[in-house]
Amino acid sequence: MTTISENETLTRVGPGTPMGELMRQYWVPCAGSSELKADGDPVRIMILGEKLIAFRDSSGKLGILDQRCPHRRASLFYGRNEHGGIRCVYHGWKFDTDGNCLETQNVPNADYNKRIKAKAYRAAERNGVVYVYMGAKEEPPALPGFECNQVPEEDLFVRFTFRECNWLQAVEGELDTSHVGIMHFGAVTREQLAGDPMQSYMVANKAPEYEIKETPYGYIYAAYRPADGEELYWRYGHFSLPFWTSPPINQMETNVLQRAFVPMDDTHTLFVSMFKKGAYPESRVQAQDGIAGASQNFPYLPNSTDWYGRWRLRANASNDYELDREVQRTKSFTGIEGVQLQDQAVQESMGAITDRESENLAPSDIMIVRVRRLLLDAARAWKEEGKLHFSAEHPEAYGGVRGGHLVAHRDRDWLETYAKAIAAAPWQDLGKVKSPA
Ligand code: FES
Ligand SMILES: [Fe+2]
Repeated sequence: MTTISENETLTRVGPGTPMGELMRQYWVPCAGSSELKADGDPVRIMILGEKLIAFRDSSGKLGILDQRCPHRRASLFYGRNEHGGIRCVYHGWKFDTDGNCLETQNVPNADYNKRIKAKAYRAAERNGVVYVYMGAKEEPPALPGFECNQVPEEDLFVRFTFRECNWLQAVEGELDTSHVGIMHFGAVTREQLAGDPMQSYMVANKAPEYEIKETPYGYIYAAYRPADGEELYWRYGHFSLPFWTSPPINQMETNVLQRAFVPMDDTHTLFVSMFKKGAYPESRVQAQDGIAGASQNFPYLPNSTDWYGRWRLRANASNDYELDREVQRTKSFTGIEGVQLQDQAVQESMGAITDRESENLAPSDIMIVRVRRLLLDAARAWKEEGKLHFSAEHPEAYGGVRGGHLVAHRDRDWLETYAKAIAAAPWQDLGKVKSPA
């Protein structure tokens, strides 16, 4: 059982909290590159409970500053992004992307600015995603070495979605593989999935068994159930510290896909999904075409400048996710359209931070139990002993991480099967791949 105090440790992410301090040792995805234009509008971003202003200066350099001006604490959101820095509109103090104060317009002493510094975090970007490093190290680690960070930028698709619940509920929704055949495909028959035989094994057997192993980056797991003859159908996935998942939503050969569930604060999450174009093969799309509820549609509301105003979906808790009871009675298990919207509905329905001490966990929740323990141990080791989890200083450890499904003879070892499948898969940088075993 997870106690109230463990739940607090797991879910609170603000400055000074054990989990928040652990997460600050990693690069955190926080915005899309296209949201920040050179000399364009500053953007409010909320990350790990901190209100920050992101902007791109005239030369294209990214700046991520505490929203409060160091003079008298006015918000830099209202600032003018001009000629190499952001200028607070209250008294005209101007800051570059590193937080250096360039000018103090209302002070006669020309050198006064040299004594002032705005709180600034390191920023980086890769493949259309902006990352922030909120830790104290002079030299932050390299960006995580996932395949999605190694493929050419033009090959990668990135999507952001806002979720109104604690980050761990969203992560656990990904690790909870047994819900897929029920919530997402519970009203689908094997015949309907004739064009997608692997998914049809999942529909035929809703109670898989599991393998799980700790790795240098977190955990690899696999759910297995019978396929045809002597073969088993395997769904491999990963949890990578501190908030990354690699779900098995496509065949291993194409599933270059990574997801992050970034805590904006304790009760709001930025879901970042990156995948290589072609991750969803055409045969898969066609097989699911016309299956009620199985679509990947994302109708967004217009973004606003609010802290919680970006990447909100039109279907949300305020309209019961556009639940259609007639569709639920006759066509789909939930009556909610869209696999990820179904996930969002149940995760948000658990409450902003769910009360884990009231759960009744089952054998199907083994990944959830293990990952909670891993997170608690990693957060405590950092906070109490100053010992960092291996992954925080070895971003190359994420190199061979890919989720996916496959069919293999029942006598084959699950980790050997995985290693072989990864070695044979296209698009990866083999030189950087490390086996999780
Ligand atoms: S509060 Fe920003 S310049 Fe005075
Ligand atoms: Fe799901």
